[in-house]
Amino acid sequence: PARIKIKKLLTEQASNQPTLVKGWVRTKRGNKNVNFIALNDGSTINNIQIVADPAVISEDTLKKITTGAAISVIGKVVESAGSGQAVEVVAEQIEVLGTADPEKYPLQPKKHSMEFMREIAHLRMRSNTFGAVFRVRHALSFAVHQFFHEKGFYNLHTPIITGSDAEGAGETFHVTNFDLKKIPLTEEGEVDYKKDFFGSETNLTVSGQLEGELGAMALGEIYTFGPTFRAENSNTTRHLAEFWMIEPEMAFYELQDNIQLAEDLLKYVVKYAITNCQDDLQFLSARAEEEEKNKPQTERQEMSLLERLQFILDNDFERITYTEAIEILKNSKPNKKKKFNYIIEDWGADLQSEHERYLVEKHFKKPVVIYNYPKEIKAFYMRQNEDDKTVAAMDILFPGIGEIVGGSQREERLEKLQARMGEMHIPEEDLWWYLDTRKFGTAPHSGFGLGFERLMLFVTGMGNIRDVIPFPRTPDNAEF
Ligand code: 4AD
Ligand code: MG
Repeated sequence: PARIKIKKLLTEQASNQPTLVKGWVRTKRGNKNVNFIALNDGSTINNIQIVADPAVISEDTLKKITTGAAISVIGKVVESAGSGQAVEVVAEQIEVLGTADPEKYPLQPKKHSMEFMREIAHLRMRSNTFGAVFRVRHALSFAVHQFFHEKGFYNLHTPIITGSDAEGAGETFHVTNFDLKKIPLTEEGEVDYKKDFFGSETNLTVSGQLEGELGAMALGEIYTFGPTFRAENSNTTRHLAEFWMIEPEMAFYELQDNIQLAEDLLKYVVKYAITNCQDDLQFLSARAEEEEKNKPQTERQEMSLLERLQFILDNDFERITYTEAIEILKNSKPNKKKKFNYIIEDWGADLQSEHERYLVEKHFKKPVVIYNYPKEIKAFYMRQNEDDKTVAAMDILFPGIGEIVGGSQREERLEKLQARMGEMHIPEEDLWWYLDTRKFGTAPHSGFGLGFERLMLFVTGMGNIRDVIPFPRTPDNAEF
């Protein structure tokens, strides 16, 4: 018989027909009369139960069937007597494809800490939790492409290796093929990048935005969805050195159009996950609730994961200006002992994560869009407002996550852009190609960046960004 995936098999009726399933053993229990094997092939969180009769399957084979082993089973699909599943497979033949020595296989069926699971990142995808997380990751990624495709956006592949630092934060990883022990120097004693592979100084991209803007000024509406790299030394549960970002860029969009697109995108992908990942999300929701029990009362989430996801669909995001946000914070009473303890800052200061949490989780109790930030705390490319103090920036803050989206209307006026670059000491010759779009057929345009792993944190309810990407890259961690 042809192989059937377990996800499909579990929806079939008992047929008494021979079938072929392959997968990894999750558990085996039983006695000398019968063995029950829970088998998983990654297609679903649910296992198929294999019934193995020692009169049919040899003792030697049964001995090798331990947690983690890969097996191939031919058997009949019958109605299951046990609760929890409609069908099971009565084995007629089992081939052990690969054993997993119980003395050595680290992923034994018991509760493991997340720290331990990170140490076995090469195997953790075989667990229920990480299987669910990475199936949801696929679904969200697919939903992102589907959302933009339906809207007529084009997926633009922007370079990973660039010569620019879009965010100007100086957090780039250098790219070179110099032998680091023999770096060529100029007569002035500086690194001679002309002799490097690309003939100039290069780094891994921190954002596809600047190239995305070039695409938008030709194709109209584009989006990038690629890896981005930041050498920021923040060892938090919200930062990675390598993360994936979705960056749409749209000609003829102004700031409020930009915000609306971001809100529509977030609702669309959350809805897609609710519709298409029910089993995995129910599992993750139950898991998240267990985790909540370990937290102090004041830190606990009021809603379950599934309720939080539904809440996003049912409520419009709050939109306030930065100035309004500061006013709200000034009129608030930080509580030194409790969750919302922060120092109230004056106009002009960047919002700290405590401020963001207060606004989202306590004051509005829903996603908040903050726009028109002081220009001093934002990037050079953001469009300057009439007040000369603020720029048409926007950040979207999510409960439990903080900043999930950052974007802006772009400065499309050449003189204004040049003036701002001058103030921020960004050499025009480095970005001559970017400035060209403002010289030839410039037009209002906007875009934003959605951090894919921050979105993953929200949708899966996982507590640490290291646990929503298969192989996290963080300070001191890039072994495999
Ligand atoms: O706010 P950021 O730095 O904005 C940009 O890079 C713009 N060029 C985007 C644009 O307008 N096209 O980053 C955007 C988002 C953040 O809101 C956050 O969700 C995520 O990217 N992000 C990170 N995610 C994980 N680890 C990090 N170190 C991140 N830094 C930013
Ligand atoms: Mg930001």
